[in-house]
Amino acid sequence: MANPKSHIFSLSLIVTTSLFLLLHFPTVSFAQTLFVFGDGLYDAGNKQFLSSNRVDASFPPYGITIGKATGRWSDGRIIPDYLADFMGIPRIPPILQNPADFSHGANFAVADATVLGSPLETMTLSQQVIKFLETKNRWENQTRSEAIYLFYIASDDYLSYAKNNPNPSDDQKQAFVDQVITDIEAQIKVVYGSGGRKFAFQNLAPLGCLPAVKQAYGNVQECVKLPSELAALHNKKLIKLLVDLSRQLSGFQYSFYDFFSSIQNRVIKSKIYTFETGTAACCGTGPVNGTGCSTNNLCANIEDYVFFDGKHLTQEGNLQVGHLIWGADPEVVGPNNLRELLVLPLDVTIILADIQEAMAAIRKSQNKIENLYDITKMESEMENQWAYQVKKASSFLI
Ligand SMILES: *[C@@H]1O[C@H](CO)[C@@H](O)[C@H](O)[C@H]1NC(C)=O
Ligand SMILES: *[C@@H]1O[C@H](CO)[C@@H](O)[C@H](O)[C@H]1NC(C)=O
Repeated sequence: MANPKSHIFSLSLIVTTSLFLLLHFPTVSFAQTLFVFGDGLYDAGNKQFLSSNRVDASFPPYGITIGKATGRWSDGRIIPDYLADFMGIPRIPPILQNPADFSHGANFAVADATVLGSPLETMTLSQQVIKFLETKNRWENQTRSEAIYLFYIASDDYLSYAKNNPNPSDDQKQAFVDQVITDIEAQIKVVYGSGGRKFAFQNLAPLGCLPAVKQAYGNVQECVKLPSELAALHNKKLIKLLVDLSRQLSGFQYSFYDFFSSIQNRVIKSKIYTFETGTAACCGTGPVNGTGCSTNNLCANIEDYVFFDGKHLTQEGNLQVGHLIWGADPEVVGPNNLRELLVLPLDVTIILADIQEAMAAIRKSQNKIENLYDITKMESEMENQWAYQVKKASSFLI
């Protein structure tokens, strides 16, 4: 069998070359608009407008690194903030903020959001999409078609499922994952129906590695199996869905970022990625600081931690993820990274179909949990950590 690495390299060469050619057409315009859907990882403050209770993220130590608590679930910036920075547009305000400048998009994500069910004081994915439909006339048709639609959703679906079903059969797991994916598919189609073409998905973290989850299961030495397994099953179906949609829906383009591996790597080999610890959170109480983040139990060096609280990343973690979504290679984000997705002309699906198929085939094998420990993959990821000047480990990356 041919070396998959060189296969990937030639694929990215094709993509790069075609982009280079396409960029010489004067009609190409770049997306200046970002729409964000998801849960607490992406929430820029919506929760505080929906909740009648105290919202922790509205108070220190949340926001402490940037001197202000804004409702973001981190010590500072979140992933959509960095992506907006890289796109060269202002940071995207939460849709429930009033007044706010929505000229470059809106953030619909809310902490505790799920795909299924009807949890209180949040918006499910379908409710977020309905909100988008209600507000979409603020943006021109053309703007909505060129815009990036960014998603991170379903972690709370799987965490509740795992809690309520400690020993599901394989069939039961698949059936639940199918339910979640079917709903996501319906929501993507609604957004596509109102002009959306460029979809960026961050796949689910290994949920059993979140400090809050380890602590809840009383299993602080290692990641909890079932939640991570559900996330891996979900991720596999999600990439399959995106590949299917790119065949079904004319002009459908996507970027799929392997967050699962990024977190797995940072939990296991924190130091390689500039962190001191990926096992415990910076802020909180209990054996791995899994719950109850407050100013009384904040760590001294926040940037040494992957997790800020039991479920969310530090600003440093968000920055690294932002860099990967924006510019990493197809081992980490494919078939396009966000920088590429942004400049793809709106009608190149046919040209890309073969590349997408090849990428999907490669990715299927990557989605096996065993492969997530793959050293080449980790190094490929590091390769893209240009912000950190991480030294290239060996010559095989070409
Ligand atoms: C925008 O799209 C809608 C629905 O497809 C259409 O009715 C409307 O005429 C379009 N507006 C412009 C300015 O093209
Ligand atoms: C938990 O947080 C405290 C600060 O309250 C910090 O000093 C400690 O190192 C953290 N625990 C671990 C295991 O990192």
